[in-house]
Amino acid sequence: IEPNYEVVSKWAAAYIVSKIRKANPTQEKPFVLGLPTGSTPLGTYKELIALYKAGAVSFKNVITFNMDEYIGIPEDHPESYHTFMWKNFFSHIDIPKENVNILDGNAEDTTAECERYEAKIKAVGGIDLFMGGVGSDGHIAFNEPCSSLYSRTRDKELTTDTIIANSRFFDNDVNKVPKTALTVGVATILDAREVLILISGHNKARALRQAVEEGVNHKWTISMLQLHPKGIIVCDEASCEEL
Ligand code: GLP
Repeated sequence: IEPNYEVVSKWAAAYIVSKIRKANPTQEKPFVLGLPTGSTPLGTYKELIALYKAGAVSFKNVITFNMDEYIGIPEDHPESYHTFMWKNFFSHIDIPKENVNILDGNAEDTTAECERYEAKIKAVGGIDLFMGGVGSDGHIAFNEPCSSLYSRTRDKELTTDTIIANSRFFDNDVNKVPKTALTVGVATILDAREVLILISGHNKARALRQAVEEGVNHKWTISMLQLHPKGIIVCDEASCEEL
């Protein structure tokens, strides 16, 4: 628990950098990082960029896998997760383009695309550290309430709650928000050697309580973190008000 969003972001960035440095990755043995979108990780990305610019870390031997991507908007749409990641993170660091993995929401065969993604994660030796955020209804990636805790990368219909929450990025117009997405599954996240969840703000207080004080429950997919031997939550005071 940290006092505010700024410190949460600093803590998360420092933690990720320490992990990469400790692994001392090479091309043969890269560090594999899972990454989220959303407002919450923005501060962490800013801090990571600052640490990179200060020479504290290199991403040359880091491979990334993003959690999710909308279906049905072009890759270069201003609100696609491809655009988000390049704009807010990748174009500011030294990560080689070929090391970046983001699901293709325009794939003709989405099942094949999801299988390809899972296979690629396996092929690089699995994810070392998966960073994530959480929706106010407890969803992680786009694993909406009632997703199976055994789920793998697949397409998912977004709930009305998520569509309304994300409409702030689409001119506050729910009709413009994609209704489906490709997302890693709960089990894909649980497979990572470490999972780091960032939680900030009053509107996440219920999700945080469900994550740590209630039982493991497919209605609050974030609660799956309790099943992970190395699950970390870094959160601010505001999100703790229901604990
Ligand atoms: C979307 C993303 C999630 C993210 C959630 C919360 O649904 N798919 O990965 O955790 O938004 O976003 P925010 O951090 O903006 O509250």
